[in-house]
Amino acid sequence: MTATPHRHPDGMPTPTARAGDAVVHAVSPVVESTAVGEYHRLTLAVPGVAALATPGQFTALAVGGATSGLLLRRAFSIHRTRAGATPAADLMEIVVADAGPGTRWLTERRAGDVVDVVAPLGKGFPMPARPGGAAILVGGGYGSAPLFWMAQTLRSAGVAAHLVLGAATRNRLYGTEFGDSADSLQVTTDDGSAGVAGQVTLVLPALLADTNATTVYACGPMGMLRAVTDLARGRGITAYVAVEEAMACGVGVCMTCVLPVVGDDGATSMRRACVDGPVLDGARLRWSSIADGRVSVPDDAVGAPRPAGGAR
Ligand SMILES: Cc1cc2nc3c(=O)[nH]c(=O)nc-3n(C[C@H](O)[C@H](O)[C@H](O)COP(=O)(O)OP(=O)(O)OC[C@H]3O[C@@H](n4cnc5c(N)ncnc54)[C@H](O)[C@@H]3O)c2cc1C
Ligand code: FES
Repeated sequence: MTATPHRHPDGMPTPTARAGDAVVHAVSPVVESTAVGEYHRLTLAVPGVAALATPGQFTALAVGGATSGLLLRRAFSIHRTRAGATPAADLMEIVVADAGPGTRWLTERRAGDVVDVVAPLGKGFPMPARPGGAAILVGGGYGSAPLFWMAQTLRSAGVAAHLVLGAATRNRLYGTEFGDSADSLQVTTDDGSAGVAGQVTLVLPALLADTNATTVYACGPMGMLRAVTDLARGRGITAYVAVEEAMACGVGVCMTCVLPVVGDDGATSMRRACVDGPVLDGARLRWSSIADGRVSVPDDAVGAPRPAGGAR
């Protein structure tokens, strides 16, 4: 562990300077499991996590128990941390959607069960380039999980925070009860079962104009992140997006999670979402090479395969 402040790759400081890349690896008791709509909120005892984690980072959990064939850890945004009276009593919360065998196993954990946890991982949300002003936070489904904590962090730093939560239907919204962590809250559902009928992009243009926001933060499905980035770019402002690219190792070793990202020099390289993200500048992502859960390597990316005999 070093005393180096944690910085996002684009140089912006993250909300709370934390020590180097320190992570906690713990066998964590489940303190509470609560069903919330179609999701489960799990509260885990993770010693020391509160001083290390910042909003937008993720945790990697071993699933299935000691003899499970589910070998890979599963990634989850950190919903929030709660500092205990001593670091040993710190808590960490995540929101889990039942998407398959690993997440189902997690939703079945009850108080007193244990889960093997590594946290925090990756780079979280940077603070806005300038102090003051306003920011908009957009969450799709359980993608809203890290945004309430970020909204509070922004407000503590004097930045107004406006939340937009969207989902396909009412039961897939997460966190409408945490609206008071922001200065305003708008809700959309595709089927109109709560809030405005439609997608988050329906209410965003007016909110961007009304608040004069300088930064947008988003977490949710890739299609939503792309649309939010386009709207932010249209106003010349930054959109930081937390991507959910499928991950195997979660620590930068396996290259499962690579995405095409344009660097300062204008060249595209394949960057690892687990260590260079999951929060990335949306304007730097080559969205045309990311579609329907599949990522392709652009022909002009550094190191891209070339046809036999082609010039390099
Ligand atoms: C950085 C990050 C943060 C995440 N945060 C959350 C969170 O807060 N809450 C939550 O419920 N889930 C989150 N996920 C997604 C979660 O990791 C996957 O749903 C989980 O790994 C699926 O495991 P499984 O064994 O249940 O299902 P699998 O059998 O492994 O997969 C079931 C289905 O989910 C799809 N899937 C697998 N990984 C992902 C992924 N990364 N994104 C989208 N679909 C996936 C598979 O293609 C398959 O269709 C996050 C993923 C990443 C990378
Ligand atoms: S998940 Fe292995 S390098 Fe990112």
